[in-house]
Amino acid sequence: MNILFVAAEVYPFSKVGGLADVLGALPKALSERGVNVKVVTPGYGVIDRKRFAIKRTPYFFNILLGRDRFKCPVSMFKFTDNANLEIYFIENEYFFSSRGVYTDLDGNPYTDNPERFVILQKAAMSLLFTMDWQPDIIHCHDNHAAVIPVYLKELFPHLPELKSVKSLLTLHNVAYQGIVPHDKKYMFGLPEKLFRFDKLMMWNGAINPLKAGIICADAVSTVSKTHAQEIMSDEEISAGLKDVIVSKKEPVYGILNGVDYNEWNPEKDSFIYENYSINRLSGKRKNKLALIKEMGLHESIVEKPLLGMVSRLVEQKGIDLILDSIDRIMVLDVGLLILGSGEEKYHSAFEKVIEHYSGRIYIDFNYNNPLAHKIIAGCDIFLMPSRFEPCGITQMYSLKYGTVPIVRKTGGLADTVSQWNGKEGTGFVFNDFTTDAFLKSVTEAIRIFRKRDVWNKIIHNGMLEDFSWEHSANEYITLYEELKKNET
Ligand code: ADP
Ligand code: GLC
Repeated sequence: MNILFVAAEVYPFSKVGGLADVLGALPKALSERGVNVKVVTPGYGVIDRKRFAIKRTPYFFNILLGRDRFKCPVSMFKFTDNANLEIYFIENEYFFSSRGVYTDLDGNPYTDNPERFVILQKAAMSLLFTMDWQPDIIHCHDNHAAVIPVYLKELFPHLPELKSVKSLLTLHNVAYQGIVPHDKKYMFGLPEKLFRFDKLMMWNGAINPLKAGIICADAVSTVSKTHAQEIMSDEEISAGLKDVIVSKKEPVYGILNGVDYNEWNPEKDSFIYENYSINRLSGKRKNKLALIKEMGLHESIVEKPLLGMVSRLVEQKGIDLILDSIDRIMVLDVGLLILGSGEEKYHSAFEKVIEHYSGRIYIDFNYNNPLAHKIIAGCDIFLMPSRFEPCGITQMYSLKYGTVPIVRKTGGLADTVSQWNGKEGTGFVFNDFTTDAFLKSVTEAIRIFRKRDVWNKIIHNGMLEDFSWEHSANEYITLYEELKKNET
């Protein structure tokens, strides 16, 4: 089986959020199960080409956006220990080199993001025509790759070499749809008729690539079973696309993300201060102490509950709940560490809060992968009060690190964390998106934290959970096989 992945982020080359984690792990897990995988992604300037020994290939495309032609050489990374997996980087001097993934250093989205991801998709199509290799499935991820199913259905439906190629569109985040004004239609290279009033590419007077991709893809999936149900039934969570989603012949597949336990494992994590395991939890306390020192918190916090969060600071993540309840949380005599970047309004709101709690709160607004590992290892409690969460990966990391999650019952959070009921459970789960419901869970967690035996039992339950990719990779293989069998 041959699968071509197209995505905007691939760990360890480029990363903003969990999409990168998935693209760093799922292709690997598939290729270890005999699937031949090629991944196509932009060659951003931030990628460390020397470190990864990324090499130029003979492939070179002139990609058209309207009348303008952009030169796109293709580079490649080959794994020395895995002949079944290759990563292809689409290079372009103007759109990708000397730039990051979606935003500049101040967090402002690049205004030409729509052009950048159309370039990615057109180059992926060109690669398909040029390589001496044909995929059974093109697995497209999010709006950045959602026009590929449209190209397959609308531009090349009769090409014999593409006739048997199927597309799967995975929705990691339906809230980002890649919407652009109608006057950008020239860049897609699609027939004019698709941009008329209520036609395929259009949505409320603008071009909506994700909507068109959902319609054209042979199958659509998302990253947890609960979120699949949510986007088929809840207008708000589907960000307006519910009717489009349910109009598909097949329901949306929900396949839970996994965890790459080679990267996220307290027993061998090289970023944390000391390795530890379920049988040697003293190492977790050493991580807490070292983290408290490094972040400049009062040493007394080592005896108190230390709450942590590693997250994009955007509305989705329930940052408003944290801000609205922060004074009432701090009254509970805790420490708080937040690592995250995102919307400016949240940065400035947090900056004001820090002034009142010096030595008890530390907030880092950078992107810092080693610190993410240290926080997930060193804290006692991990906060994830999301408004909606397609899957969420950090709560699964925190379970493995014995850091008890408090999550809202939504999407993948509902599928991966179970409420402690006195005997069983891995964390604390609240239902309503209100400060009262959130605070009730925080208070309950802190009360139980002081009963060491009970707390250790919850930690153990979480550390014993297994969210490795094995199960999900097999689910994807079954889905690929079904798609391959289906006649269009
Ligand atoms: P999302 O993809 O919605 O951001 P996930 O929980 O799926 O949420 O994945 C988030 C990923 O991004 C995790 O690997 C987390 O460690 C990482 N991450 C988020 N913010 C930061 C940050 N500021 N520094 C380092 N890693 C971060
Ligand atoms: C998105 C979602 C997150 C998910 C990640 C990877 O960014 O917000 O819930 O875990 O994609 O699928």
